[in-house]
Amino acid sequence: MPEDSMDKPNIVTCTAPVNIAVVKYWGKRNEELILPINSSLSVTLHQDQLKTTTTVATSRSFQEDRIWLNGKEEDITHPRLQSCLREIRRLARKRRNDGDPAMDSTGLSHKVHICSVNNFPTAAGLASSAAGFACLVYTLARVFGVEGELSVIARQGSGSACRSIYGGFVQWIMGQKDDGKDSLAQQVEPETHWPELRILVLVASAERKPVGSTSGMQTSVQTSRLLKHRAESVVPGRMEEMIKAVRRKDFAAFAELTMKDSNQFHATCLDTYPPIFYLNYVSQQIINVVHRYNRHYRETRLAYTFDAGPNAVIFTLQQHVPEFVQVVQHFFPPETNGGQFIKGLPVNPAAITEELKQAVGLEPMPKGISYIISTKAGPGPCVVTDPTQHLLRSDGLPKETV
Ligand code: DP6
Repeated sequence: MPEDSMDKPNIVTCTAPVNIAVVKYWGKRNEELILPINSSLSVTLHQDQLKTTTTVATSRSFQEDRIWLNGKEEDITHPRLQSCLREIRRLARKRRNDGDPAMDSTGLSHKVHICSVNNFPTAAGLASSAAGFACLVYTLARVFGVEGELSVIARQGSGSACRSIYGGFVQWIMGQKDDGKDSLAQQVEPETHWPELRILVLVASAERKPVGSTSGMQTSVQTSRLLKHRAESVVPGRMEEMIKAVRRKDFAAFAELTMKDSNQFHATCLDTYPPIFYLNYVSQQIINVVHRYNRHYRETRLAYTFDAGPNAVIFTLQQHVPEFVQVVQHFFPPETNGGQFIKGLPVNPAAITEELKQAVGLEPMPKGISYIISTKAGPGPCVVTDPTQHLLRSDGLPKETV
């Protein structure tokens, strides 16, 4: 069939990053709008190591909205997907009705095809919904010519996704309003602010997480008094201190706040009834290694944080990376014939002293960690200008390679 130029799809591809919270979001005051009970703060990870890529196509010839995630067609009627699509279309219509001359309104009534992939294994248990929804909203906004505060829309896909709309150090201000218009993300400092900061993701397990964050936090809000105390009396002060530590690049202060906040989040999980366990034995041993390492040097050189799963995320400064990676390799020896143990930013080999080994003093746990992703802070979502990178063909279906 000859292709009418009117039927030629409008195709846009963008990428978006993963973020890791150092002051955790846990608990909603409004489930539908995804409004949190406390503010949170995160570091955006570099997209060279971890990113979602999304292509959105619109065409007059598409019969219905469709979505493919990591090669598989998924249900577009999912309420959170629908919230994001509805909001973007509403804002695009508003812009047209306000008479913006820059607005090309031809595609407004067209259906969309969406195709999204991660460059990291979903099975590794790394939060993919944050990058996924941030990328979806950012790409849809480009396609429909929507400008303005995209974090408010990404938030309605997944709470933590609002922080992936910006690079560097990002706070999600909880807001007060019932309609959620003031519950948005803001950059605290750009990714260039603290170039020595390094982030190591220690992939402890390939299992899927036992309790998802959405339902886990629901039970916590219903049953944990510790969570209420945390949200009301701990997080407000901690947010201020964390912002100060980031601005001053005070690693010791940043690291201690990060560890204490992770520990309190997991304490609220234990205070939830029935309790939720995200940390496993390997996670606990990593916590021990970090504290013993810091004590050995009489200086806080490392920090850990854990989300709703057993993987550890370690923060440190560039100069300490080679030695710490060697410590991990020593106490969690990888499979000799397994794949690459260190992925991402290259890490120089280093030796560790007998004193340090003794100070850590653990029984080695072979294969406790499957691999490490070495990364740093990175930028927010980007548009991909090379059309060969689109994930959808001009007929709106996924390319064979997806
Ligand atoms: C532990 O953003 O995945 O990673 O809003 O229900 O989609 P929903 O939850 P989600 O929760 C993330 C929780 C966390 C902490 C954090 O990222 O702040």
